[in-house]
Amino acid sequence: MATITETITEPLTTLRLRPESPEKPAVEKKGFTGTKYDHDKDAGGEKDTNYPYTWALPTFNNEKYPPLTPFEHKDPGLEALKHENPREFLQGGDVSELTPRFGSDVSGVQLTQLDARGKQQLARFVAERGIVVFRDQDFIDQSPEWFLNDWGSFFGRLHIHPTSSHPKDHPEFHLVYRDMSKTFNYEFTDRFTSSVWHSDVTYEEQPPGLTTLFLFDSPASGGDTAYVSQVEAYKRLSPSFRSYLETLSAVHSGVEQANFSRAGNRGGTVRREPVENVHPIVRTHPVTGEKALFVNKQFTRYIVGLKKEESDTILNLLYDHQAKGVDFQVRVKWTPKAVVLWDNRITAHSAIVDFDSEQDGRRHGARITPQAERPYLAKA
Ligand code: SIN
Repeated sequence: MATITETITEPLTTLRLRPESPEKPAVEKKGFTGTKYDHDKDAGGEKDTNYPYTWALPTFNNEKYPPLTPFEHKDPGLEALKHENPREFLQGGDVSELTPRFGSDVSGVQLTQLDARGKQQLARFVAERGIVVFRDQDFIDQSPEWFLNDWGSFFGRLHIHPTSSHPKDHPEFHLVYRDMSKTFNYEFTDRFTSSVWHSDVTYEEQPPGLTTLFLFDSPASGGDTAYVSQVEAYKRLSPSFRSYLETLSAVHSGVEQANFSRAGNRGGTVRREPVENVHPIVRTHPVTGEKALFVNKQFTRYIVGLKKEESDTILNLLYDHQAKGVDFQVRVKWTPKAVVLWDNRITAHSAIVDFDSEQDGRRHGARITPQAERPYLAKA
């Protein structure tokens, strides 16, 4: 059997790059097949009483929420700037770098055991490394109340997503979900690829900071998440282009996401009217003082004050740069009980849908998304 890396000596007409698919067992399609998903009515296959995470299965209620109001965010990582050993919380753990300047992988430290000091250090560590994977956590078996009150709220005001699914009675979780009959995040049948580089909900006036994602159920392989460092992406630009970008702001919009739901996709829910906000194209991280690009293809729409062609050209150049910079990206392979934290202010990410839920299994996870400060660029 030839593989992709072998020299091709067979004529193309007979070359097979993949083994023949084994005969697929017949799969009975159960559950939801429409667009408005109601777990109680539609859960079908997931009404598997052995599944320990039924509490976290997706629902779409018709809640309506008022607009978000501004609040003062004090980053917990700032406290850790005063700590003599700001990586004390990692003691006894095993830390490896995913790449020299971006991403870490930690084993032997239980997030649930961190006290306030440990969480402050964690916030600083994630701000420095961009994204950190914690392996073999007892995290997923905590109660919804623990996740929200003891964990997420420590890092900022919990964001309620305007359109995504959440566990019944707990709208503060944003669920990622794909099984053999439904998906609520990864619709891409009209595109070549599932990759959509974005930072989460940047249309908000105060977009999220330290973000937690964990999976209850995942395919044996596939469904990785890719991250790009917006700090490194910024550093790669020439000094004069960086200086120019620092004079610019861009509009970020939630309108298209809301319209997508209003058209009957996902759960068809828009629980808060969409907003648009203007943010600087380069922002400063309040804890590290580092500058990062702050644009993303999913939510940034145009640069204020430029002609359309100028704005499109600059934004497309930056999106291309983020997507192609494999030397400032990492790809996280999920393992059972892993928890991933990223700083949404200085990274962008993309889910990778390279699995087929019918054959490879369900992917079911939850994101806890505390909001942070309004983006700013500190004066030099
Ligand atoms: C997200 O986009 O926040 C979730 C990423 C993932 O599902 O891997």
